[in-house]
Amino acid sequence: MEKVNWRRRLGRYLRSCVNAEWEVWDRPVRFFHWVVTGMIVACLLTGWLDPAWQLDRHLIFGGILTGLWLFRLIWGLVGSEYARFSHFFYAPHQVLQDGAALWQGRLKVASLGLNPLNAWVSFVLLLVVGALLLTGVVAYGGEEHLGPLASVVSFQLGERAQRWHGWLAYAVLPLVGLHLLIVWRESKLTRQPLLRSMITGCKPLDSDHVEEQYRDSHAGWAILVGGLVIFAVDHWSKELAQLPMDGWRPLAYPQIYQEKCGSCHWTIHPSLLPEERWQNLLNQLDHHFGHTIFLSGKEAIAISSFVLIHAAEDWDTEVAHRFRKATGNASHYIIEHPLWQKLHDRVDQRLFTAPPVGSRVHCPVCHHDALSGRFAAHAIHLPKIEEKKGVLFTPPQ
Ligand code: HEC
Ligand code: HEC
Repeated sequence: MEKVNWRRRLGRYLRSCVNAEWEVWDRPVRFFHWVVTGMIVACLLTGWLDPAWQLDRHLIFGGILTGLWLFRLIWGLVGSEYARFSHFFYAPHQVLQDGAALWQGRLKVASLGLNPLNAWVSFVLLLVVGALLLTGVVAYGGEEHLGPLASVVSFQLGERAQRWHGWLAYAVLPLVGLHLLIVWRESKLTRQPLLRSMITGCKPLDSDHVEEQYRDSHAGWAILVGGLVIFAVDHWSKELAQLPMDGWRPLAYPQIYQEKCGSCHWTIHPSLLPEERWQNLLNQLDHHFGHTIFLSGKEAIAISSFVLIHAAEDWDTEVAHRFRKATGNASHYIIEHPLWQKLHDRVDQRLFTAPPVGSRVHCPVCHHDALSGRFAAHAIHLPKIEEKKGVLFTPPQ
């Protein structure tokens, strides 16, 4: 019986290129290229346009991008010839020559793989995306006290990472623009539809260009290394997430605080105000926003020691940092703080005046983790406003 060469059959099936063409971009490279393009667009759009309460979407796209990015690193080592990073490293003079040839319109023959200038641009783009993913996780850990780095990153480092994250996102635009410009120019000069080749994988085979040392891909290695990387990342991020956090801890509200301070509004998390402001507020309980609150000596001591021990100075969370500096109206501490107002100016202001929220002070109606003091972006859930005639509110689920 004739032996069936499955490898060749499969190869023929996978390669749709006609005879005079060469499959330059293997399937994983093409898949990566287009899915990454989609994910970068999705990350940029959600990052720039979405309000904080939709951070989840940004995180999902970022997570997919992280997986693809790690895959590309591995494929850059064990993929087929033109997928490999060894093709990305052209000497600077080659890059300059190539750039000059493109600029002056002297380029006549397209490179089989990426041309030197575009290889350089793509590599920088890959690095920038890597830096975006890293700064994203650091910012998430520091600012939200969530994610794998929550226990090791301080709020300040998280904030700094957030700033870098924003700048790096802008750096993506000129790089993508340059990448497209080079592809367009090279396609025009060499009369080769390069965009098509990133879909079919094929480029015309030019006798000058036959690759003498074509290296096949090693999918087995990629799967093995990829599996190990996934296992390691998953394992370490779970381990890290278990570590106690420096600036955040679970807090139990004493009974007396719940009884005396949790009847008109929620049991306000002590981290929302610095010590000095708590002291002021407790000294003026006979004029507490139009109410008089009576406390026995014992109750006053219990409450003041609870809030002072856990005041803003003792936390490394976003709320503790943001409202720590005493500015704004001295009688309203949190909600008239300019930063509080800035954070909430995109929120439909009617929410604050009608049920179920009714007051700016009722943080937990919208911030479902307010009692923990975390105020993470993804725990924001706005109660629905139904607009028919007038404004109707449905209570939060
Ligand atoms: C009789 C009702 C009532 C009780 C009891 C009460 N509060 Fe208040 N509290 C209010 C009102 C009303 C406001 C203002 C809400 C607004 O402006 O929408 C307020 C606001 C606050 C604020 C926010 C200040 C700001 O604007 O930044 C804090 C902090 C606070 N209360 C702490 C306490 C503490 C501590 C206790 C217990 C000793 C307590 N409250 C008990 C009615 C009460
Ligand atoms: C009516 C609902 C509502 C109430 C009440 C409310 N917030 Fe918010 N808060 C939001 C929304 C929505 C955002 C996100 C705004 C945006 O991204 O444009 C937000 C954002 C924030 C942020 C930034 C979160 C982040 O990760 O970016 C902090 C901190 C915050 N609020 C604190 C408070 C505190 C403290 C209170 C109570 C004194 C409070 N909020 C009351 C809806 C509310």
